[in-house]
Amino acid sequence: MSTAEFRRAGHELIDFIAEYLNEVEHQPVTTSIQPGDLFSALPRRAPERGEPWRNIIDDTRRHILPAITHWQSPNFHAYFPCNNSAPAILGELLSAGLGINGFLWQCSPAITELEMCVMDWLGRALNLPERFLFTENYASSQGGGVIHGTASEAVLTALVAARERAARDSDAPPVAYATSQSHSSVIKAAMVAGIGRHNVRLIEIDSRLAMRPDALAAQIAGDRAAGCKPIFVCATVGTTATGAVDPLRTIAEIAAEQNLWCHVDAAYAGAACICPEHRTLIDGVELADSFNFNPHKWLLTNFDCSAFWTSDRKALINALNITPEYLRNQHSESGRTIDYRDWQIPLGRRFRALKLWYVLRHYGLEGLRAHIREHVRLAELFESLVRSDDRFELPTPRCLSLVCFRLKGTDDKNRALVERLNATRQIFLTPTTVPLAPNGTPRFIIRMAIGATRTQEHHVRAAWDLIRQSADQP
Ligand SMILES: Cc1ncc(COP(=O)(O)O)c(C=O)c1O
Repeated sequence: MSTAEFRRAGHELIDFIAEYLNEVEHQPVTTSIQPGDLFSALPRRAPERGEPWRNIIDDTRRHILPAITHWQSPNFHAYFPCNNSAPAILGELLSAGLGINGFLWQCSPAITELEMCVMDWLGRALNLPERFLFTENYASSQGGGVIHGTASEAVLTALVAARERAARDSDAPPVAYATSQSHSSVIKAAMVAGIGRHNVRLIEIDSRLAMRPDALAAQIAGDRAAGCKPIFVCATVGTTATGAVDPLRTIAEIAAEQNLWCHVDAAYAGAACICPEHRTLIDGVELADSFNFNPHKWLLTNFDCSAFWTSDRKALINALNITPEYLRNQHSESGRTIDYRDWQIPLGRRFRALKLWYVLRHYGLEGLRAHIREHVRLAELFESLVRSDDRFELPTPRCLSLVCFRLKGTDDKNRALVERLNATRQIFLTPTTVPLAPNGTPRFIIRMAIGATRTQEHHVRAAWDLIRQSADQP
């Protein structure tokens, strides 16, 4: 593609994206295509000869767009949001244009040093303790932040750092702690790290679906008595199912006393902690060893962008550093560089800091706080609408912009309601099951996750009207 063609195609593509984002609210949120439809509509082999760009774009419209679930629709209330925004899209574009791979500082100082800078900015915006930051004197600080692709990578790196730090003085099996409400990535991390899923203890939860610290302490004592080596606990702030919040401070205190690594998974809720009124959610984080949240969920930054901080980068680096001859260089040996390859699982890494920098500068912290506050307001509104209809109940407390609700009565009735709602394709909701009493049988609940970049009050009211009207249909 010549430079002239690239310019033309590029301008057209920006128009295409702008038009898509303008119009997406009028599209059904989900697609009607069936499994295998797209696969069978596409050729089985790549073309031998290059094709005109026009044909490729036409096929994008014809085949790809109809098979899309519109995560950027303001009527998308499933899972958790996956925000995009114009400045972040432009940051992604420039990152692709520069085409850099930044595994070592010398691969491109800008990738590393901009990332260090924005991670300190974001850490300060969350009021994280200084020990999590690079600070002015990064060469001698103990902590720092890194951008991973996902929260799953974050918890895996935290777990291997924990194992590294725990004395390797015995063959005792390492043990990690979470709850039934923790994200499945904790167990997956134990599987990948070779610790094994059977060595993740799921600690009892209370009536708010939060970890019981007394049960954690008892389980750690029991494991030690049984000859195991407790190394890691994951405290979740804002669980995936209902937004439950583990008592972070007490868990972190137990972890510190017992010499365990305490990782805080705030993948969704962490974004809200830039607002002082929500910062209490992570009270106690100053006692933890690592903290993670996903700006790509609810902070206007395109996927992928998962922000991870640790106060003990030495443990992380010791766990992940391996230096073949071809990676040696004088800068790394000077001890004055951060080489992010040692903070993550892959070697290669994208220029993700660029989009986060653009977002932070374009919106400013005030703009980002306004984004969060508006969605929390909309969730409060939705919660009050549910409360005003006595056919419904709110089985768990609202967490920020996540509201869980259900029709009073059987699980089947609720399952049928979600199926009816999603079949309209006007909104998209994902249900789940959770115990509504400690040790109770899991019950079916419906999640209304507000937070898509373009969701406004009329979308939430329209969603409620649809839910209300669908409630009594057979
Ligand atoms: C609380 C929590 N932790 C971890 C994850 C995993 O996120 P990722 O897809 O970034 O690995 C999620 C995903 O929604 C989550 O809700």
